[in-house]
Amino acid sequence: METYRKSPLEISKEEFRKIGYQLIDSVSEFLDSIDKTRVTTGETPEQLKNVIGTLSIPEDGVSPQEILTRATDLLLNHSLLNGHPRFMGYITASPAPIGALADLLATAVNPNVGANILSPIATEIEKQTVKWLAELIGVSPSYGGLLVSGGNMANFTAFLTARTVKGPKNIKEDGISNTTQKLVVYCPVTTHTWIEKAAVLFGLGSNAIRWIKTDPANKIDIEALEQAINSDLQNGNKPLLVIGNAGDVSTGVIDNLAAIASICKKYDLWFHVDGAYGLPAIVIPELKPLFTGIEEADSIALDPHKWLYSPLEAGCVLVKDPDHLIQTFSFHPAYYNFDNNNDAQNYYEYGLQNSRGFRAFKVWLVLQQAGRSGYEKMIGQDIQLSKLLFEKAKSHPELEAITQNLSITTLRYVPLNYNSGTEKNESYLNRLNEALLNELQQGGEVFLSNAVVNGRYCLRACIVNFRTSEKDIEDIIGIIVREGRKIVLRS
Ligand SMILES: Cc1ncc(COP(=O)(O)O)c(C=O)c1O
Repeated sequence: METYRKSPLEISKEEFRKIGYQLIDSVSEFLDSIDKTRVTTGETPEQLKNVIGTLSIPEDGVSPQEILTRATDLLLNHSLLNGHPRFMGYITASPAPIGALADLLATAVNPNVGANILSPIATEIEKQTVKWLAELIGVSPSYGGLLVSGGNMANFTAFLTARTVKGPKNIKEDGISNTTQKLVVYCPVTTHTWIEKAAVLFGLGSNAIRWIKTDPANKIDIEALEQAINSDLQNGNKPLLVIGNAGDVSTGVIDNLAAIASICKKYDLWFHVDGAYGLPAIVIPELKPLFTGIEEADSIALDPHKWLYSPLEAGCVLVKDPDHLIQTFSFHPAYYNFDNNNDAQNYYEYGLQNSRGFRAFKVWLVLQQAGRSGYEKMIGQDIQLSKLLFEKAKSHPELEAITQNLSITTLRYVPLNYNSGTEKNESYLNRLNEALLNELQQGGEVFLSNAVVNGRYCLRACIVNFRTSEKDIEDIIGIIVREGRKIVLRS
């Protein structure tokens, strides 16, 4: 072996600089012209398989320059672009460009934010990021938590913590096989599917979920919630937690959080708020009252990669008493020499992950670039654009505006003079709008998703996108109507 080792993975300073600058040039061009391209190429998996080719892993390595040139072409020319101003599907934000630079820097240093000793400055930055997120949503500074991969993981972390704190004594040690009572949880029917995975993952099973009906405003029906709790108590079951949505995934409705909080107090249950989508709207002063009760939450799921415009992946869980996280997740194996400094916060003790990347870094930079007032402006504009879409749909003779909450609008295409309302005609409209959505998603001019509202299949636009403008909203109306007419003519 040579005295100075030459590794197949090392890149010289000169080469790193050269290919790095080339990459930065390509990414700058890409970002600058993102509104001029299609949202998606609409290529099929088969076509894309052919694009990347079917060769086996190379026996001998390839030069970084060659790899990166090809990879840049693949990603920039064959991706769905959620940073495009007319991307409004599901809930993925336009990512703040500074996040891309943050990831480059974070991965160059590569701190392992599982233990303080392995990530001294990164741990402090994550702590500050968590503190800033709590400040942004206006809850007490007592809340603490950590960054996770997204909304699902934030909710899972809270769920297991609730199970430890409100479940039978020693559940951490004995598990649920020793419990005689059935553990049950409550959530509105509008709750995101994470709850099903959580119930399975943490041993309760999906039948432990009590899906509570919603009232005419689509908020959890508080009377039905209390009845369900009483019925479980009478049947000898053990209620653990109640979930309130601060912006449900389909239509953006915020549950009556204060009412849920008082039920939780009355029955000594854990109160969890899933604010993955909508909670950042609390920065808008006129909307703040909609979130009253959030300050009572035992835990909160936030999702910076949604309405805080961070690149994927970045979720955050906040817990009113962070010791509950320690109680749930902390162990001290002999092979960890992490306990010498009492001040040190070791994030592996706070959540499910052990080795942890520095996802807090991009959130930290994004929060600084926008500032609180930047969020108030961007989120406020997203909501105004969503309202504009609703109004334009309402006044168009071939569109039916269905719902508008926060930055989510649902609408559907109804052919001119079509008599909706009968069961047969409603079923035709559902099929028509489903076909229309598929057409739009493939077409690449706009990317919407769907919601089913009172049995009606709707197109759904969720604007968590600081690039969308009024012109896009006007264009989208035109695109939907044009494509809707085409499908009617074909059918
Ligand atoms: C309300 C709500 N909760 C949880 C999730 C899951 O978040 P993620 O996809 O980041 O895991 C979503 C995703 O859209 C959501 O809208």
